[in-house]
Amino acid sequence: MRDCADILTVYQTTRWLQKKYITVEEVKEEHRGLFFRRWGWLVAEIDEKVVGETTVRLERNPVSGRIGIVRTMDVDVRHQKKGVGTSLARAAETILRKRKAVRVVADSPPEAYNFWMKIGYFARGSLLDISIKRENLPEPPSKDFDIGDIEEVERLPASLKYSHMAHPGLLAELARDVLVFGEKGRVLEFRLDGKPAGTGVVKVDDQKRAYFVADINRRGKQHLGEAIVRTARASHRWRATDVCTTIPKERLTYYEEAAPWNANPCRTIPVTRLL
Ligand SMILES: CC(C)(COP(=O)(O)OP(=O)(O)OC[C@H]1O[C@@H](n2cnc3c(N)ncnc32)[C@H](O)[C@@H]1OP(=O)(O)O)[C@@H](O)C(=O)NCCC(=O)NCCS
Repeated sequence: MRDCADILTVYQTTRWLQKKYITVEEVKEEHRGLFFRRWGWLVAEIDEKVVGETTVRLERNPVSGRIGIVRTMDVDVRHQKKGVGTSLARAAETILRKRKAVRVVADSPPEAYNFWMKIGYFARGSLLDISIKRENLPEPPSKDFDIGDIEEVERLPASLKYSHMAHPGLLAELARDVLVFGEKGRVLEFRLDGKPAGTGVVKVDDQKRAYFVADINRRGKQHLGEAIVRTARASHRWRATDVCTTIPKERLTYYEEAAPWNANPCRTIPVTRLL
C-alpha cells in the first residue's frame, strides 16, 4: 500500500484521459478488496521509487484453457521507452506461466499497440461495441433460467473465473464495479435445474447509459440469447435509456439473434502471446 503514493504519480502521467487521480486514497481504493487480492500485482522500481505497475489475473476458457489477463500496465511517462514496460510484461508472463497459463492476453489502446507488437504479442481478432435503446429490447427468446441476485463478494459465482462467450476479463471487471465500488447495477446468476448456468452483470451510469456483460457456461449453452436479453433488461430498474456492451466480433450473430443492435468497431485491440 505504501507504493500507492508513487503509483498515483504514475497514473497521473498515463491515465489523465480516462480519469483524474487526485489523492493517494483513490489509488489505494483500487488496490483493495477480495477481487484485487486474487489478482497479481507487480511494480517496477528505479532507485526505490515505483515508476511502473502491472496487474494480472487468471481465467479459464473452454477452448484455450487457462489464460493470463494483463488488466493494467502503466509506466510513468518520464521513464517510458527504457525497457520498463518490457520488464513488467516479462515478469508477469513468468508468474502466469508458473500458474499454468497457456497464453496471455491484453486489451491495448491504439497508442500502445506498437509496444505490444515489439515485445512479441500479436493481434487476436477484434472487438465490437454494440448498443440498443432499452425500449427496443425484445422479450427474451426463452424464459428457462431461474435468476438470483448476487450481492456479496464472497458469493461470487465460479463463472467469473471463466470466459465462455464473453470477452476475457470483462465480466469480472464489471462485477467488481458493482459489488466492490458500489456502482448502480446488478450481478445476476442464471440457474437451470438448480445449477449455475450463467452470469450477467449490468451497470448504469449517471447519464442513464447501461453497460452489461452476459456469459453462460456449458450447461447454459443453448440459452445465450436469454442471458443477453435478461441481463440487458435488468437495467430498467434505473430507467437506462441506452444499453451497450463490448463483444468479440465473431460472436455478433449470437447477439443479433437476440436483438437488433447497432454495432461499431471498438478502439481497443485485443493482443495475445503464447506462453
Ligand atoms: C505502453 C507502455 C506500458 C510501454 O512502456 P515502456 O516502458 O515505454 O515500454 P518499453 O520501453 O519496454 O518499450 C519496448 C519497445 O516498444 C517501443 N514502444 C513503447 N511504447 C511505444 C509506443 N507508444 N509506440 C511505439 N513504440 C513504443 C519502445 O520504443 C521499445 O522499442 P525498442 O525495443 O525498439 O526500443 C507505456 O507507454 C504506458 O504506460 N502507456 C500508457 C498506458 C497504456 O497504454 N498501457 C497499456 C495498457 S494495455
